[in-house]
Amino acid sequence: RKKVVVLISGRGSNMNALIEASHDRDYPAEIIGVISDQADAPGLKAAQARGLSTVAVPRSGFSDKPAHEAALVDAIERMGAEIICLAGFMRLLSAEFVARFEGRMINIHPSLLPLFKGLDTHKRAIEAGMRVHGTTVHYVTAEMDGGPVIAQAAVPVLPNDTEASLGARVLKAEHAIYPLALALVASGKAAMQGGKTIYSGLEGMDFEE
Ligand code: GAR
Repeated sequence: RKKVVVLISGRGSNMNALIEASHDRDYPAEIIGVISDQADAPGLKAAQARGLSTVAVPRSGFSDKPAHEAALVDAIERMGAEIICLAGFMRLLSAEFVARFEGRMINIHPSLLPLFKGLDTHKRAIEAGMRVHGTTVHYVTAEMDGGPVIAQAAVPVLPNDTEASLGARVLKAEHAIYPLALALVASGKAAMQGGKTIYSGLEGMDFEE
């Protein structure tokens, strides 16, 4: 099983979904640790309660961004991560950091990329009059929210949706697709090549609900 470290900044519900999935013995990845840039992230406590090793690497402890990123790299490598999952990690990573883990670092974003990169995605989807919205798991590249897509899930935008009601629907979809996408990457069924996601060995997999 591939060793995975999850990077979070907050609640950690996607982290939890990955941990849950990895409790299945047949799941191709094992969550070995959690790193947060926020010392008080609720997700850190949840990870500790599950017996995972956790590290807080707050930006405030370092003189500049390169020093902070060096500490993040150190924590990731000490844990022995083979794959890094960003799960609500709300910090932009430098091109150097991203290059170091290219093809081994994935992120979940709360929109159907390439629509609605950045923040406040649910509010913007409603304002744009979208009737579908969703979530994307993608490889992390130097372009923010711009790396090749691994998996997506769409949800309807209902007439009376608020940012909160739509966000809750998307979050549920996130908890379903992040474990699926990580399984594809950890098993080698998805890989990043030439700036694209290539798939192999999917024969016999059932993508229907
Ligand atoms: C998730 O909706 C994730 O897609 C989003 O933050 C939330 C984290 O929730 N990520 C981003 O917006 C990244 N720019 P969680 O902490 O409960 O997993």
